[in-house]
Amino acid sequence: MPLDIVIGAQWGDEGKGRIVDVLARDAQIVARYNGGDNAGHTVTVGPQTFRLHLIPSGVINPDTKVVLGGGMVINPETLLQEMETLGAMGVDISPKRVRISYAAHVITPAHKALDRVQEAARGKVSLGTTLRGIGPAYVDKVARRGLRLRDMLDADTFAEAVRAHVQNTNEILTQLYKSEPLPAETISKTFRDYARRLQPYIDDISSLVADSLAKDQKVLAEGAQGTLLDLEHGTYPYVTSSIPTVAGAICGLGVGVGAVRRVVGVTKAFQTRVGAGPFPTELNGSTAMALRGTGENPWDEFGTTTGRPRRVGWLDAVLLRYAVQVNGFTELALTKLDILSGLQPVCICIGYRRGGEVFNKLPFGLANLESLEPVYKQLTGWKDDIRSVRRLKDLPDQALEYIEHIETLSGVPIRMVSVGPEREQIIIDESTQ
Ligand code: GDP
Ligand code: IMO
Ligand code: MG
Repeated sequence: MPLDIVIGAQWGDEGKGRIVDVLARDAQIVARYNGGDNAGHTVTVGPQTFRLHLIPSGVINPDTKVVLGGGMVINPETLLQEMETLGAMGVDISPKRVRISYAAHVITPAHKALDRVQEAARGKVSLGTTLRGIGPAYVDKVARRGLRLRDMLDADTFAEAVRAHVQNTNEILTQLYKSEPLPAETISKTFRDYARRLQPYIDDISSLVADSLAKDQKVLAEGAQGTLLDLEHGTYPYVTSSIPTVAGAICGLGVGVGAVRRVVGVTKAFQTRVGAGPFPTELNGSTAMALRGTGENPWDEFGTTTGRPRRVGWLDAVLLRYAVQVNGFTELALTKLDILSGLQPVCICIGYRRGGEVFNKLPFGLANLESLEPVYKQLTGWKDDIRSVRRLKDLPDQALEYIEHIETLSGVPIRMVSVGPEREQIIIDESTQ
């Protein structure tokens, strides 16, 4: 009964989508378990580029069923748009294939408006959210007043609940934030229509996954965001409002922990972050520009959802070890190794310094990262273009040394090394299986 889980080991955008695309080949179900359309997973298959926000990346594999789990928050407007785009690209998005948990929560324009005014009110200490209404939707969930996909099964009652929710939010928007009210009646009507269109997709995901696992079929859980953005274990308060780490998969899909087989941590060969918050190894200047790119290539470090330039820096092995601790990764997938080609030297953060003291483990948890100065291990870089390499042993010695250092520092084997965004640009190390 294997459940394999793919999780971001950093601050998101590690390349989870394309790792899922590869691992989905023999999966019966690929299931997203957390977050919403704050996610942007880009998968390149030949001439086609898929930019996914809510639908799991497994959708590109025609034999796989895709599932949106109960731990998610779903904006019906973007979901229906994404379905339309995928449909136009020839992807089957029929209710036979796409199933959505009745327990997932609904994002409305009121949540988006709250996200906007709350970020603006934070001023200089804003979190840099994606403004998709993610936080406010999870707040409603925890406050036990959220709207769920299940409520859509009766479109009229749902529309009435949406109207009341927008009216209530209008009180907050106008009185607390001195902002314009939203048109409750229009939104309510639109959401009645969304409900009718999404009804055929709503399902009991926990049972669907359990049935599949009972038949010994492979289920693949696709994380969004990453460990350091986790509400419980990330760089709070600069986090998202869901649980991208391993427990989020168990909880967000409603599956027993005994089913878990592989827990794949996806890490870039360097570190990136979009939005505010501590980032000990952050770089500026020419190395940063080399890591980020200019925006010319689809893989350059600019947000898929917001287009914002991502902050970049050297790989942080202290944070990677922390991600291993929190998730229990059984293996790592290393992405974007090709981007390091030509850099001299390449560095890995192996510890932190504060005053005269050096730590190789997080000293006081993630909250105090700001005051720490990174301690680097410098390694010799490589000049060769590695994008056409297909076997580990054909990588330059210096690249292999870099990989070995990450394995030693994290204590976890690297089973996949990616040297470009295409499917065939993933080198799978079968010897570690
Ligand atoms: P996700 O959110 O974790 O799925 O990652 P994103 O899709 O937001 O960001 C990763 C970006 O890097 C995408 O544009 C991928 O196509 C691209 N990418 C993934 N792996 C590699 C790689 O090994 N090399 C290069 N050059 N690009 C990659
Ligand atoms: P994928 O799935 C990178 C960041 C935002 C912000 C913080 C909170 O593509 O890896 P939110 O809108 O969630 O309340 O914003 O989290 N963030 C991401 N950063 N990749 C993501 O998703 C992200 N989803 C949210 O930039 O700092
Ligand atoms: Mg992304």
